[in-house]
Amino acid sequence: MRVGIFDSGIGGLSVLHQALGELPEADFIYYADEKHVPYGEKTESQIREYIEEIIEFMLDRQVDAIVIACNTATSVATKEYRSRFPVPIVGMEPAVKQAVELYGKLPGRILVAATPLTIAGDKLHNLVEKVDRDEEVDLVALPGLVRFAEKGDFQSDEITDYLREALKGFILEEYKAFVLGCTHFNYFKAYYKRIFPHSVRLVDGNAGTIRQLCRKLGVTEHRKPDRRKGSTEYFFSGEAVTEKDRKRIEEYMKQLNVMS
Ligand code: DGL
Repeated sequence: MRVGIFDSGIGGLSVLHQALGELPEADFIYYADEKHVPYGEKTESQIREYIEEIIEFMLDRQVDAIVIACNTATSVATKEYRSRFPVPIVGMEPAVKQAVELYGKLPGRILVAATPLTIAGDKLHNLVEKVDRDEEVDLVALPGLVRFAEKGDFQSDEITDYLREALKGFILEEYKAFVLGCTHFNYFKAYYKRIFPHSVRLVDGNAGTIRQLCRKLGVTEHRKPDRRKGSTEYFFSGEAVTEKDRKRIEEYMKQLNVMS
């Protein structure tokens, strides 16, 4: 079984990381559209063009399913659009529903962070309207985190400064949960824990996305053996990665191991 996973950049590696544990025998193709990152600051039609090219790339390599490991790309790729292609396509949306189901009964608010395009999109607004019965969900765009993640900067004080500035309009004490509605945001979990004055609950959509992928593939038993049998190939905007890129990917994977 071969699965294609793509994102605008290295954010989707967090989804691949989850998938490697759940589907040890599958072969993966990971595609980072490094030429066009950040998607969150592009137009919808530009992103649709990129997505089509990537899906064709994956289909040429005979994948059995494709995961859009990018909330921004998913927000512009509707279900009807996705069903045009001959294999299942699993998208991602900010895990607002999950956050409300898990923590809705507790006192406090839920803050959903994503890219500017996802935050402005109808899809997220419709989702919030549907699940936020108590009107406890707020939204914030954090495009700067995509840049820090792409630079491989997981350690600097600038990240803290950026977050403090971007979140200064919110009373952080009020928040019980923080939804990571962009896969690039997964690298900064330690920072959110520091920025919120009490231990805020972090919610991301990675596990749910891989569960959905397994359902689509008809995989019912998830095993987590120590050694993987499947292969993983990496591409940056259609080109096989160089040795230097591979080292970069290894650094991201290490960071994800530390946080999982
Ligand atoms: N990682 C992407 C997401 O989940 C988008 C980041 C970007 O390219 O702006 O939305």
